[in-house]
Amino acid sequence: MKIAPSILSADFSELGAEIDRVTQAGADWIHVDVMDGNFVPNLTLGMPVIKSLKPKCKIPMDVHLMIEKPERYIEEFIAAGADYLTLHIESTSVLEKSLLRIRELGCKSGITLRPKTSIELIKPFLHLVDLVLVMTVEPGFGGQSFMSEQLDKVRVLNSWRQQKLGNFLIEIDGGVNSQTAPTCVEAGADVLVAGNAVFKGEKTEQNYKLNMSQLR
Ligand code: DX5
Ligand code: ZN
Repeated sequence: MKIAPSILSADFSELGAEIDRVTQAGADWIHVDVMDGNFVPNLTLGMPVIKSLKPKCKIPMDVHLMIEKPERYIEEFIAAGADYLTLHIESTSVLEKSLLRIRELGCKSGITLRPKTSIELIKPFLHLVDLVLVMTVEPGFGGQSFMSEQLDKVRVLNSWRQQKLGNFLIEIDGGVNSQTAPTCVEAGADVLVAGNAVFKGEKTEQNYKLNMSQLR
C-alpha cells in the first residue's frame, strides 16, 4: 500500500521543506490538489507552484485537478512536473481525448469522480487510465469525514480489474486515517491519499513518520 500525503494540509509557507520531511519519513507520492474556485468552492495552487516544487520533490507528483475544462492546461501541468494527472469525469466534455493526450505526453493518466457520480460512468474509460481515484469526501476541502459507502466503488473497480477491463491503480482520497485506512485496503485500494492524518501535529520528519506508521 502506498501513501500519498496531500500537501493541502501542509504548511503553505514552507511547502518545499514539508515535502522534504514527508519524503524522508517514507511517503510514496506527493498528492497535489489543484482547485479553481469554480469546479469546487475553494482555490489552491497551479502550475507555477508545482514547477517550483518539482526540483525539490524526489518522489512522484500525483496531481488531482479539480478545475473546469482541465483540457486547457494539460500540457502546462505536465511540463511543470506532474507524474500522474487526474481529471474529474464531471469537469470535461472531452475526457477520452484528454486522457489520450496525457499519455501521449509521457505522463500517467488518472480519472476520478465525485461521491454522487455513478462508477458505471467510468467504465468506458478504464483502458485509458493508469489510476482511478475514488473520492471519499466531497472534493474541495481537507479534514472532512470519510464516506464509507464509497468503498463499494473500490470493490467494483477491483472486480473490473480482475476481469482485465483495465490495468490501473486504485487510489482513495478524503478522510483517510488510522481507523478508515484498513477498510480501504480491504476493499482493494493501492494508494491512500492522506492530508490531515499525515500533517497533524509537529512539523518534523519524526512525527510524520509516526503518523504514517499509524496508517500502515
Ligand atoms: C479534497 C482533496 C483531498 C484532501 C484530503 O478535495 O482532494 O486530497 O486534501 O484531505 P484529508 O485527508 O484531510 O481528508
Ligand atoms: Zn485530492
